[in-house]
Amino acid sequence: MADRSSSSMGFYCWNSLFYWLCLTSILFLLSSFFVLRSTGRPQFVFRPSSDANIVSDNINSGGGAAVFCEKFIAERGVSKQVLKVFMYDLPPEFHFGLLDWKPEGSNVWPDIRTKVPNYPGGLNLQHSIEYWLTLDILFSEYSGSSNSRVAVRVRNSSEADVIFVPFFSSLSYNRFSRLRKQERSSLDKLTQDKLVQYLEAQEEWKRSGGVDHIIMAHHPNSLLYARNQLWPAMYILSDFGRYPPNIANVQKDIIAPYRHVIKSYVNDTSTYNSRPILLFFQGAIYRKDGGVIRQELFYLLKDERDVHFTFGSIQRGGVNNATQGMHSSKFCLNIAGDTPSSNRLFDAIASHCVPVIISDEIELPYEDIIDYSEFCIFVRTSDATKEKFLMNLIRGISKEEWTRMWRKLQEVENYFEFRYPSRDDDAVQMIWKSIAHKVPAVKLKLNRNRRYVRTSNVSVDREPPAFMVPHSFW
Ligand SMILES: *[C@@H]1O[C@H](CO)[C@@H](O)[C@H](O)[C@H]1NC(C)=O
Ligand SMILES: *[C@@H]1O[C@H](CO)[C@@H](O)[C@H](O)[C@H]1NC(C)=O
Ligand SMILES: *[C@@H]1O[C@H](CO)[C@@H](O)[C@H](O)[C@H]1NC(C)=O
Ligand SMILES: *[C@@H]1O[C@H](CO)[C@@H](O)[C@H](O)[C@H]1NC(C)=O
Repeated sequence: MADRSSSSMGFYCWNSLFYWLCLTSILFLLSSFFVLRSTGRPQFVFRPSSDANIVSDNINSGGGAAVFCEKFIAERGVSKQVLKVFMYDLPPEFHFGLLDWKPEGSNVWPDIRTKVPNYPGGLNLQHSIEYWLTLDILFSEYSGSSNSRVAVRVRNSSEADVIFVPFFSSLSYNRFSRLRKQERSSLDKLTQDKLVQYLEAQEEWKRSGGVDHIIMAHHPNSLLYARNQLWPAMYILSDFGRYPPNIANVQKDIIAPYRHVIKSYVNDTSTYNSRPILLFFQGAIYRKDGGVIRQELFYLLKDERDVHFTFGSIQRGGVNNATQGMHSSKFCLNIAGDTPSSNRLFDAIASHCVPVIISDEIELPYEDIIDYSEFCIFVRTSDATKEKFLMNLIRGISKEEWTRMWRKLQEVENYFEFRYPSRDDDAVQMIWKSIAHKVPAVKLKLNRNRRYVRTSNVSVDREPPAFMVPHSFW
């Protein structure tokens, strides 16, 4: 952390130096121009080119050097490491139309400078990455968004690092996956079918076979039908629980955090002693898959004093009550449910309640950047179900050790905050960074696929590697 802030200090110093250099050189140019003019040589005629106009206009209004130099700094930044994203202008029915936004005229996108359509609240918000990433890319085109940008929209797909597909798949699942009377397919399925058709008709898709495409499917049930066809793309998921490994895996795809539903603990002055509950869990009972472990743990822990273990969704218990509970607990349990991940981990982080993760198949966001063992306790399922194992472990963690993890939680919590406009190293920017880290592997795949272009007109295999694709997985 200290490292990073000192390097950014260096950057700012460098920037101000750069401003000075620009300012002095502009003044020098101007003065030589006036000197030349005052000599009155007739052959020197000032023909304002459009560029000179901009500079001189701005100088008259006083902000010339700043504007002039900002251009250079922006270009320098871009060449350094900003991710260049081409976004399809998908029809609104794939994105903001699902939020009941009505386009005006032929506009595909809302004018986010005047009004940003709202995403529905409640548990929908957990999977809202699609909304935040799309807004961020739209916003990257407006001035005033230049500092600390990690991704920008480019209009020429040949210049892009990745191709972004702005389909709000989780919302489509949440709102339109139930069959209504007389319907043979849900609207969610029809939209996915349309998406596959749309993509396969695009030049960009044909060029790469989809390898450089980014498709968001954060809800575990979203993109249920299209996932088996669009698999060459990079998916942004919450976990791999409902995907066969040839369709999605940790090498190819990205794990994004849930948006937490518990309120952030602002100005947390709590201490080990001021949090009365040792271990907190609130969640649903599942009868299938990983759910068995929840019941086993319940029987192991139910008679322990200072353990709060209840079944029931946060929604039903009230977000306020759950917030209260997590803010008053030292450790918060995250047990695999019907999927390896859940928003509970991110609720715990926002509450500065040290997560205890019992989920063998879990994959975590940006684990190439952060070391979760610094602020989480991981326990294998086989260990957690041993008599006394978990409680001995938790009670054995000292006050000092807990306090160290609690501090670390406050350092990392920003990585899990979704914001519009995005800010330094918040969830939106961290997801773009994770994507940027995959770009070299994408380039490698693309170049390898081109080896035989001269002797074969088929660029990419249409079959997933190895493995059979089940028709309905799980
Ligand atoms: C897009 O970029 C490519 C590569 O830089 C360039 O050859 C092409 O002319 C550009 N197309 C347009 C329409 O600007
Ligand atoms: C947190 O502390 C800051 C500064 O002390 C204060 O301005 C702010 O209102 C506090 N926020 C809350 C939610 O208590
Ligand atoms: C809130 O939580 C407390 C225990 O923490 C519980 O006794 C109470 O019933 C809960 N209230 C609601 C509305 O769920
Ligand atoms: C691709 O190759 C097949 C057979 O090798 C041929 O029938 C087909 O017309 C070719 N397609 C194109 C676009 O060249």
